[in-house]
Parts: sequence; C-alpha cells; structure tokens
Amino acid sequence: MDGRETAVVAEYERHAHDVLVVGAGGAGLRAAIEAAASGARVGLICKSLLGKAHTVMAEGGVAAALGNVDDRDNWSVHFADTMRGGQYMNNSRMAELHAKEAPARVNELEAWGAVFDRTPDGRILQRNFGGHKYPRLAHVGDRTGLEMIRTLQDHAIHLGIDVHMECTVINLFKDGDRIAGALAYDRERGRFRVFEAKAIILATGGIGRAFHITSNSWEYTGDGQSLAYRAGAALQDMEFVQFHPTGMVWPPSVRGILVTEGVRGEGGILVNKEGRRFMFDDIPENYRSQTADNEEEGWRYVQGDKNARRPPELLTRDHVARCIMREVREGRGSPHGGVFLDISWIKSKISNPTEHIKKKLPSMYHQFKQLADIDITTEPMEVGPTTHYVMGGVKVDGYSQMSTVPGLFAAGESAAGLHGANRLGGNSLSDLLVFGKRAGEHAAQYAALTTQGAIDADMIESGARKALDPFDRAGAGASSEGPYQVQHALQEMMQALVGIVRRQDEMERALDGLVALRERAARVSVSGNREFNPGWHTALDLDNLLTVAEAVTRSAIERKESRGGHFRDDFPEKDPAYATFNTLVMRSATGTMSITRQPIVPMRDDLQKIIEENK
Ligand code: FUM
Repeated sequence: MDGRETAVVAEYERHAHDVLVVGAGGAGLRAAIEAAASGARVGLICKSLLGKAHTVMAEGGVAAALGNVDDRDNWSVHFADTMRGGQYMNNSRMAELHAKEAPARVNELEAWGAVFDRTPDGRILQRNFGGHKYPRLAHVGDRTGLEMIRTLQDHAIHLGIDVHMECTVINLFKDGDRIAGALAYDRERGRFRVFEAKAIILATGGIGRAFHITSNSWEYTGDGQSLAYRAGAALQDMEFVQFHPTGMVWPPSVRGILVTEGVRGEGGILVNKEGRRFMFDDIPENYRSQTADNEEEGWRYVQGDKNARRPPELLTRDHVARCIMREVREGRGSPHGGVFLDISWIKSKISNPTEHIKKKLPSMYHQFKQLADIDITTEPMEVGPTTHYVMGGVKVDGYSQMSTVPGLFAAGESAAGLHGANRLGGNSLSDLLVFGKRAGEHAAQYAALTTQGAIDADMIESGARKALDPFDRAGAGASSEGPYQVQHALQEMMQALVGIVRRQDEMERALDGLVALRERAARVSVSGNREFNPGWHTALDLDNLLTVAEAVTRSAIERKESRGGHFRDDFPEKDPAYATFNTLVMRSATGTMSITRQPIVPMRDDLQKIIEENK
C-alpha cells in the first residue's frame, strides 16, 4: 500500500472487547489473565511479538517475603524496605498491598508451572538484592523475568484472550469523560485498527528510549504514559528515573544492556581502576547499621550468616549508580568509562567457583562471553549506569489501578505510586504480578457495570490522517528530515542534561531543546510503503518520547532537592519541605503541560508503627 494513500476510512479493521490490555509484558499478561478469568472479553495488544517484553530484563528475581531462606522475613519488613528504598515518596497503601500479596502471587506462578531455583529442602530459593533486608528474591538463575513471561503466556493462551501482535496504539478515544476505545495500526500491513473497549489497561512499560544509554529495547517509548496524558489523565513522580548501576559499557554496540544485580547478590564486588572497593567509601547514614564496613563481614552475609551485615554493593541502586559516576568523574574508572564488577574474586572463597558462577548466572556468563569476549569466571566485567526504569507514571488509585480518567487503568511500570523515589530490585516483578492482577480484576468489574461508549467517526479519521502526515511530507526538501535524527538528538540531550546528575540551568536548556525538537518532529518525513516501515513507526513514537521527556524535565525542575533516582548537583541534599508532596503532570486546556504538587496521603498509624519498628 502506498504510504501517501489517503483513503483510509475503508481500511479500518474493527474489534470489540470489554477490556483491552495495551502491552503484553508481565503486567499486561497478568491483567489479561485476571480480566478473562472474571468473564470479560479481553483483547491483548503487543507492540512487538508476544513474549518480547522488558520484563525479561528483571533477571535477578521477584521480591516476595516468603521467608524461605531467612524466616525473620515477613510482609512488614518488605513493606518497610520498600518505603525506605522509595524515600517515603511511595503510596503507602500500594506498598502495603504489594508486600502482603506478593507471596501469594509468586506461589500462584509456581502452581502455573514456573520452575524456580530450590533450597536444599525443596522450597523456592531466595537471593540477596540491594535494599532488601533479607534474602527475598525468588529466582530462576538470572532468567527470572523470562521464566515469568513464559509461565504467564502459557497460562493466558488457554483463556480465550484475543492477542493482537505487532500492533501499536496511537490514540485513546473517550465518550465524554470516560474511555471508549483506541486507534492502532498493525506494523506488518500498516493498516489502522479501531478497538472498542469499555475499559482499557495500559501496561506498556517504561520510557528508557528517551535516553541514549538504556537497558530498554526499541518498544519502550513512553506510549502508555503519553496516551494517558493526552487522554487527560494525570502523571505522577516523573522526575524519578532509575539508572541501574550496572549496564555493559563495552563494546559500544551493546552499551546499556543490563548486567543483573544478581551478580552482586551472589557476591560480585565493584572496584575502581586502582583495584579498590570504593563502595566502602560512602555508606549513607540511614543504611549504616545494616551495611558491612569490611570485606570479610560482607562475604559472610552473602554466604548466609544471619549475624552479618550486607556488603555495600547491595545498597540501593540510586546510591550505587552515583558512587560509580563519582569514580568515573574523578578519573578512577575503567578504560571504557565504567568501573569493574568482579564475581571471579570468589574463586579464592569457594570450591568449584566456575561451575557455581555458571549455574547462578548463566545468562551473564554467555552475554559477556559472546558480546565482549570476557570470561566472567576469571575476569572482571566493565559496567556503568544504564537507564532502566521509571518510578513515575500514570497516577492510579492504589486499590483498583484506575487512573483519573474513568475506565482507564494502568499497571506495572507505566503506573506510578508503589516505588516512590527509587525502586528496589525485584520489586518490579512483584509489582506487575500484584497490580496486574488488581488492574485486570477491577477493569473487568468496571466493564461489567458500564455500556460501550460511542466512538466518533471524525476522531478515527483525524487520528489516522495525522498518523499518515509523515508520508505527505516526503519530498518537502530541506525543511524536512528523517525521524531517526530527531530521536537520536532527543536521546543524547536527555542523557546529557536530564540524566543521573541534574542542574537547573541544564534542565532549562533541555526544555528549550525540547521545543526545538518538537518543531523538527512536526516536519519529519518518511518514504516507502506502510507495510512494515520502521521509519514511519519511529516517526509516530516521537510524540510519545517528547511528551515523557518534557514530563521528566519539568518534574525534575520542580523538585529542588535530591531524593532517590532524582539527583541535583545544585541541591545535593534531601529537603524536608519536598518530602510532603508528589509532582503531578497534567495537560492544560490549551494543550500545554502543567506541573502541580499533590500532598502525600499520610500513612496510617499501624503502617507508621511498622516503619518505626524496622528503623
Ligand atoms: O538487576 C536485575 O536483575 C534487575 C531487576 C529489576 O530491575 O528488578
């Protein structure tokens, strides 16, 4: 089909569902399962192929207080760890539900066929991870996310869910205030599809592709956050972006690919070019009592000594990432701009170290062998921070996951609230199980009580025509450029000016830069056919990327302090005045982005008591 062909109306394929789930990673699959089990007619949209999801990048494990390895663990310790990790910016109700329900969700997954690693007495094995007081991460080697996706997928396909693969949603439709459906195109044929739906669940994952160095693959362009924003929903906490401390830095073609925290959980240490374990240099006050101050004690902790304190490599991700950046900035980094992560040092500590490392970290072994020609059983890896996760997202009701737009729900990474200013590793997988289920259940309930809203034919037509605009600009000459240049410029700018370390003047420059990039994006042209045209798809992603980039930048400017994943060089400390609110991003009546402060709902007394007891 010629891309410039404008007679689009006749080509709409129409689908009708009670609940439409956008995104087929862990959160989307879990939501779809629950909605279908409740009797709803469910559609599941995947931007790429079913099973290809960022969920697989949560490699090291799923956090749940099963207490299998340390029976002192329970939901209240998990709750307190999650709140402390999130610097008390979290929605405490969500953190409570998450900690209480995660064990049941993990056990259920096991009953559905997930094959977790085992303790000697046959229970689900749990490993250490940053910020978790006890070994809490149920895992499958370093392929936990992959095993979860496989299990959820196997379970979902028997429930009569309609799966729409290689399909991208570009607009949400509303009837009055409430959600009524979505407009999408299929990537293979380039045809538009209209989805009628009484309820929609956004589970599209993160925004990593707004940055240059990221563990996220091409799909993660902030689609859900941007669709919700354009539909009038509020976004929350967008300044809190997580830079995972350990991504590959070499070779350049694989820069940003995740190196699981599981490496540190199994005893891996971080050293600078002088061979010094620099993480001992800076242990935050609020973690001092839990953190070992010498190598020997840290190792005993890894070996399961309940009286030992955790090694400093297992401090929270925000802190570890900043320590790595400090080493690099001060000239003590590795040859390619990172630091060294060494698991091979354990060879002096245990028998059969090679087999042990290969068994515990099989993917890491192959990843480094194949991509960097490094044998991690004998050599250190070079690693540095990589954009991994956004704590902010669509503001939702913590119980039902409904956004501020009736009928529009969000779950997993695209929703905000659970993680506050910084997420603990492994809490993403438990988040998507707990709140994916809740979203599916409540969306199905909502759909059962409502009628299908009307979708205006003009809205379909104008949405489709707008999506085809880049074809019409082909041949516009010097005023037009390809989408990849704009995308690349945006990623470089966000990395440099709104990355791990932020400053007012740089972020203001980024805002000006975003205005210029929007103008360039409006002139982007593509050529060729509509059938599988990645240039066209990239052109359509630009609006989402620009929206989330602006939301991150404006929220980061608003928060004049450092907290969790948000670090400001010009305000390096936490400021109690900023501990009382979340930032909210809304679309104003004139289409501009506005930022407001929403007071944090005070924690219930019983939850506050748990925090005090766990201090
Ligand atoms: O390091 C990791 O395995 C990532 C886990 C997560 O993001 O939860």
